[in-house]
Amino acid sequence: MSSVLGTYARKPISFKEGKGTYLFAENGDKYLDFVQGIATNILGHCHEHLVRAIEIQSKKLWHVSNAFIIPEQERLAKRLTENTFADFVCFQNSGTEATEASIKIARKYFHKIGKPEKNRIITIKGSFHGRTLAALFAANNPKHTEGFGPKVDGFDQVSFGDEKALKKAINKNTAAIMVETILGEGGIKVVPDFYLKGLRKLCDENNVLLILDEVQSAYRTGSFFAFEKSGIIPDIVPIAKGIGGGFPLGACLLTKKASAGMTVGSHGSTFGGNPLAMAVGNAVLDIIYSKNFLKDVEKKGTYFDQELKKIKDKYPKVIEEIRGRGLMKGIKMIVDNTEFIKKLINQKMLTVKAEENVVRLFPPLTVDNKELDEAIIKIETVCKEMS
Ligand SMILES: Cc1ncc(COP(=O)(O)O)c(C=O)c1O
Repeated sequence: MSSVLGTYARKPISFKEGKGTYLFAENGDKYLDFVQGIATNILGHCHEHLVRAIEIQSKKLWHVSNAFIIPEQERLAKRLTENTFADFVCFQNSGTEATEASIKIARKYFHKIGKPEKNRIITIKGSFHGRTLAALFAANNPKHTEGFGPKVDGFDQVSFGDEKALKKAINKNTAAIMVETILGEGGIKVVPDFYLKGLRKLCDENNVLLILDEVQSAYRTGSFFAFEKSGIIPDIVPIAKGIGGGFPLGACLLTKKASAGMTVGSHGSTFGGNPLAMAVGNAVLDIIYSKNFLKDVEKKGTYFDQELKKIKDKYPKVIEEIRGRGLMKGIKMIVDNTEFIKKLINQKMLTVKAEENVVRLFPPLTVDNKELDEAIIKIETVCKEMS
């Protein structure tokens, strides 16, 4: 019997090694890994550049308190702000801490400008923002909140795409609207660019901040952020998962305006932004910023999308829809997604489910077309089996 608290429905497989797109089980079986720690090992397993960065840093300095200047942190923050909408970055260790920090930043902004009554956040039904109490009640999914009351107040929810309800929900107490640019756990539902533009306009008209949760989608869609093609500038963007390439790292990116209330002592974290984490974060960025890297991700994403759509057309009774952007894909199944995932495991391919009967596919950004073809063959084999 395991001594680990049983909060996960674990599959009876464990792995001894990972290399790029593949995982190797204890029994020697080789798996095509399109889970990648749920969109986290963005450069695949044990990427050489990351291994080297961690090796070098681990011999120099692991951790110092944020009471001191941390040059690696300054460097990563500079690189993130120079290339994005953001003026400032605050480092965390996970996605939920990054979304939680975003909520705090939004509330503190209005406190600072003399409007403390503006402290409620509007969120979207079916979202996921993490497992801290505030993040749980922000998403308000009864599956996750049951038994964890009293409810954390301060959140108002509207349905995905319901513009009328959203307009109605905004009132004098609204501080921010928080939306995942692509609802990940919710089923890889992409918020269309025109809708993001509408959100920005609505926020501006009502003196409300816009938080775009890119914890799952940052770096993954062929651009730095999934919202970029919409041309809008958000106020606050929590990111995590891929930015550490598998090392626990979260961050909150924000504009100068949104930072107004965040003075000395207003937020902190023991581990957030320590030298070891920063070395990995910088190493991930070296690759992300390398010439044509994100363009290639977009190309690979388009290729994968086309091939998945061919399977969908061939098996219309198995697959309803192909969703997603870049290398963040979802297959909305007609057949049961759990069964489909089990059969893919028999084909030695790993995927992960989401709401709305979706199977999520998170190949590493380093995947090549041969590996994408391998995935397509395995997915088609299971479609044939289940049709
Ligand atoms: C959009 C989004 N926000 C927040 C989180 C929470 O991240 P973490 O599990 O690192 O706390 C997740 C995790 O899946 C997520 O997908």
